[in-house]
Amino acid sequence: MNIGIVINTITFEARELINTAAKYFPDVKIELFKNDDFKFDITDDNGFKTDVDVFLQRSISMTRAVYTSFILEGYGYRVVSSHDTLSITEDKLKMTSHLKRHHVPTPRTMIAFTKETAMDAIHDLEYPVIIKPVSGSWGRLVAMLENDRAATAVLEDREELGTVYHKIYYLQDFVHKPGRSVDQYIDGDTVGRDIRAFVIGDEVASAMYRYEVPNDFRSNVTLGGRAEAYHITPELENIALKAARAVKGEIVGVDLMESDKGLVVVEVNGSPQFQGIMKSTGINIPKRILEYIIRTTKR
Ligand SMILES: Nc1ncnc2c1ncn2[C@@H]1O[C@H](COP(=O)(O)OP(=O)(O)O)[C@@H](O)[C@H]1O
Ligand SMILES: [Mg+2]
Repeated sequence: MNIGIVINTITFEARELINTAAKYFPDVKIELFKNDDFKFDITDDNGFKTDVDVFLQRSISMTRAVYTSFILEGYGYRVVSSHDTLSITEDKLKMTSHLKRHHVPTPRTMIAFTKETAMDAIHDLEYPVIIKPVSGSWGRLVAMLENDRAATAVLEDREELGTVYHKIYYLQDFVHKPGRSVDQYIDGDTVGRDIRAFVIGDEVASAMYRYEVPNDFRSNVTLGGRAEAYHITPELENIALKAARAVKGEIVGVDLMESDKGLVVVEVNGSPQFQGIMKSTGINIPKRILEYIIRTTKR
């Protein structure tokens, strides 16, 4: 079987997939496709020819990932993650709506398009409120608004400095994580955590807690959040798989929080990194990915 990996640059994930294929799957040939080198005639059915059986999409640039998955699928190739999954997950507004339509529990979320209606929505939600750009990752520009003064400042920044996408206001109830009160955030004494579940096909391959970055409410590993193995429970498995299906995802990262009403899904990542989860759980994620891809791809 020939597996193509679409990349911008060689990441930890791409390297691990190549090394794992060499070690465990001698019949698999891996070919790298740098999206910088692509040139497509999208008006010609034969505009792109290769003997690759399936593509793994690992571009760091989400915009390029969405487009190259779309184009390759147009030529008849299977791509994981698909254009459908990536175009839903790259946009938090669409992602949250899809989760809601599939009855996956999420924090209450409001959308507004002007600073005035955004302020009204913030008052509907009640402080503290989380504001996020609809498109973004690694916790960038995800902020906690604690009062009118902070909210006015952030909304004005977005209005004056932001692109058109920063003016789509995505506002969300703050989820009180276990062992946490808002006062503790203000004091800067942080212990809260989220859960990341790594879904491969119909299974949660592994899961971890991600503890908050000191003096922050965010726990992204890229920001310095500490990871620790999580024992997968039936509740987690059920919700994470439902969330993956809601975005038509095959290999996705599902971020959850333990709210007082049970687990809620805050986001689904269509192109999840796996260095942190491999280190904290010891599960061989690239091997599981390759097994899944080989099992589910027709030659
Ligand atoms: N509603 C919320 N309540 C409390 N903390 C949140 C909430 N939403 C996000 N966070 C924290 O902020 C981090 C980044 O938010 P997330 O929606 O995952 O954006 P990104 O795509 O940038 O990772 C999360 O991992 C979580 O720790
Ligand atoms: Mg996240």
